[in-house]
Formats: sequence, structure tokens, C-alpha cells
Amino acid sequence: MSSHPTTAVSRNTLRTLHAAYLRKEKLAMLTAYDYVTAGLLDNSGVDILLVGDSLGNVVLGYDTTLPVTLEDMIRHTSAVVRGTKKALIVADLPFGTTTDPEVALRASIRLMQESGCQAVKLEGGLNAAPIVRRLVDQGIPVMAHIGLTPQSVHQLGGYYIHGKTDQSVRYLVDSAVALSEAGAFSIVLEMVVPAVAAEITQSLGIPTIGIGSGTDCSGQVLVINDLVGLSLRPPPKFAVPRGNVAAVIRDAVREYILDVKGPSLPVGSARPDPSRETPIPL
Ligand code: KIV
Repeated sequence: MSSHPTTAVSRNTLRTLHAAYLRKEKLAMLTAYDYVTAGLLDNSGVDILLVGDSLGNVVLGYDTTLPVTLEDMIRHTSAVVRGTKKALIVADLPFGTTTDPEVALRASIRLMQESGCQAVKLEGGLNAAPIVRRLVDQGIPVMAHIGLTPQSVHQLGGYYIHGKTDQSVRYLVDSAVALSEAGAFSIVLEMVVPAVAAEITQSLGIPTIGIGSGTDCSGQVLVINDLVGLSLRPPPKFAVPRGNVAAVIRDAVREYILDVKGPSLPVGSARPDPSRETPIPL
């Protein structure tokens, strides 16, 4: 008898996802930050779930991703893992945990051991290649992330498209090659000029996952709140919402408040008999 665990539904792995990439099947990735949402997305058939450090903006209400801690990532990633059976779970290494290969290795080990995720993602170009190599040598699957890298927002001076100058194109192409050679299993291209994203995708032997980088990447990722319209702020231009969950919540809560408060009764009139009230359907 095999000592390897078997389950009815087995999770996507680097091997199954790479096979899909070789079949030219596009990879669908979304972010998730909690148990319920992750379960819904997993049931819907998404290939990869990213517990992004966009957690900081989307769920925790910070202006940037910089305040997100390793403990935040572990807590939210373990909830996502508990809610899912099929999707490969990738968790972001937050700001300050990739300052050198040994720091990144310790953070990745904690993230994987304490949350149960199957891979980590880290931001950075050429300089990140030795970190990727160190993690991959220890059996840790790494997704890289170039273009707009929000952890460097203060150095970059804002959120904008990358790959508009020859120098920027060269840096993106050289970074993608270096990260792939270092062993990354996939690379996120965030807000990269679409023609440059297409060129990088063509030149690599691993899948690229685009966000705001055109349609010619090997797959796409969106922040789930932007996809379903669950936000207090407008989504970025490239994200077309396919739902309005914010409106559903607002309407349900307004109805609830009306039900709770009831119609205002003139002073001195009899209150309604609660035993005759129609139950609210669940
Ligand atoms: O943190 C995040 O959600 C991300 C995606 C936007 C790729 O890195």
C-alpha cells in the first residue's frame, strides 16, 4: 500500500499547470484572502489562487502593501488553504522578507509550514534571481513578479505602466530570463506594455501571468474584489468588474435595517402582534 495520501480531488501542481501551459491552455488565477471566498473560487474552477499582499489595500485598508506582515500572510493564507481542495495556493512574501536569500528562505519556510500553501511569490527583477535560486534549491516553488512591483512604490514613484523606454524593456526582458533561469515556475507581469509582455511570453519556457499587460500572456490574474465589484474605491482601468457585490451587500443591509426598525408607528397606537408576522425567507 502506498504511503502517499490520496484524496478524491487532487490539487493542481507545478506539473499539471505546466502541462496545461504546454497544451496552450490559458491559466486563470485570482487573489483570495479568506476561507469563504477561496472556497467559492475553488469550486468555480480557478487554476491558481494567490494570497497577494494586496491584502493590505483590499482587506486591511492600508494605502500600500508595505505594512503587511509575515504573520498577516500566514493567517490569511491558512484560511485560504482550509477553504480549498483543487487550486494551487501561492502566497506573497511581504515587504522586508526578501532582503537577502537567507531571510527569504526563513520567511518562505514559515509561510509554507504554518499556512500549508504550495508556493511563494516574490517581487523583483535581476536582483531577485539569486533569491529565487536559493529557495528553489530548497524545494520551494517560486512565482516571480516584475513590471509594476507595488512593494517598491516609493522608489518607483507611483503606479504606472512599465516597458515604455528601451532601457525599461531591456530590464524587463533581462529580468524575466534571469528569473526563469534561476528556477521560477512562472512570472507575473504587472502593468507591462502589452507588446513587451507578449515578447517576454514568447521567449520564455515558463508561463507568464499578466495583470494589466494585455491578452498575450500565458494566463491572467485579477484581484478578486476588482472582478466582483466589492470595493470602496473604483477598480483600476484594466479590471472590468463582472459583478456588483458592493450593491448586493448595500441593498441587503438597507432592507435588513428597514425590517429591524419597522414602519414608524404613531405615538399611542397598538404595536403589531409578533405571532402574526410573516417569517423572512432564508
Ligand atoms: O498582491 C497581489 O494581489 C498581486 C497581484 C496583483 C499579482 O501581487
